Amino acid sequence: MTTMRTNLADDHNKLLEVVLAYRSSKCLMVALHYDLFTWIARGCATAETLARRLQLDRRAVGLLLDANAALGFLVKRGNRYANARLAKRLLVSSSPEYRGSNLKYQEATWDAWSALKGVVKSGRPRISLLEWIHKDAFTADYIKAMGDVARLPARDLAGRLGLGRVGRTLDVGCGPGVYSAAMVERNPRLEAVLLDLPRTLKVTRGLLKRHRHADRFRYRPANFLTDSFGEGEFDLALISNVTHCEDRKNNLKLVEKAHRALRPGGRLVIHDYVSDPGLTSPRFSAMLAVHLLVFTGRGNVYTLKEYAGWLREKGFRDISHERIAVDSLYPSTAIIGHK
Ligand SMILES: C[S@@+](CC[C@H](N)C(=O)[O-])C[C@H]1O[C@@H](n2cnc3c(N)ncnc32)[C@H](O)[C@@H]1O
Repeated sequence: MTTMRTNLADDHNKLLEVVLAYRSSKCLMVALHYDLFTWIARGCATAETLARRLQLDRRAVGLLLDANAALGFLVKRGNRYANARLAKRLLVSSSPEYRGSNLKYQEATWDAWSALKGVVKSGRPRISLLEWIHKDAFTADYIKAMGDVARLPARDLAGRLGLGRVGRTLDVGCGPGVYSAAMVERNPRLEAVLLDLPRTLKVTRGLLKRHRHADRFRYRPANFLTDSFGEGEFDLALISNVTHCEDRKNNLKLVEKAHRALRPGGRLVIHDYVSDPGLTSPRFSAMLAVHLLVFTGRGNVYTLKEYAGWLREKGFRDISHERIAVDSLYPSTAIIGHK
């Protein structure tokens, strides 16, 4: 009887934990939206000063700060708040390890997730990824957000690729350009061609203009679905975190165009999250697949078998894969094929 009760309590707790997780998420995201951690670091230590400084409601700010203290991001003494260790490092905008852009971008996708009920009925999101990208503020936030999370896997990937003899690389859907930057840092003689939509590249140029090897980057505004990538120009083509935004048909197109753009012996590297064959693990991939449903409609998380099949179908050989950033909570995978 006791065991059954305990199991019931455990089961109920598990349900509550999942269903109420949104409250914690929203409290953190709204605190980040108003940069409360940064203002606290600048000395606004009470709900009164923050409410006055940011023209917010004093009582509501107090409740939000208490919730963030309960989550362990703030420490409260009397009526004063200070950033906890994690917040100082990751949530204060002047910290070199700031992760706020990425977390803020998660809030921008909240609206898309709110539509999940309807999307499960229709199979289609309300607005497409392209429409999201064409919102100016969203582009800048989205691109910066990708940059925050990309640095660690980019360094790991560049380190594993053996870039010593690589002269020219193509980065398809480069976003913030962090993967190209990591490759150039490994081999400053290589020339990195960054391909993305003109709107995105405007942000990319701004992010890379002060890079110590800024003269090694070339920018190619293009639509990767409709424009050519060139012929026999590159030693390595990278398609990172792009295939999950597209369906099988478009991904086959990208692989085919990359094949044409490579010199003989050149390598295609697809870097992305993968799903295990049953599609229910890792949990991150199963959740990402739903995220892509509400956010892109046609995007998905694919299996290693699917990737290897696409590469083989478009003429690549010696196909292998490497796990990237294995110490992170969400390791990714590089699938490599040779022309
Ligand atoms: C998820 S991001 C990946 C960025 C980067 N490769 C990375 O791994 O961090 C997808 C990128 O594809 C770009 N993109 C989306 N549709 C595109 C298209 N039709 N043509 C060119 N770029 C596109 C977006 O602007 C964005 O920068």
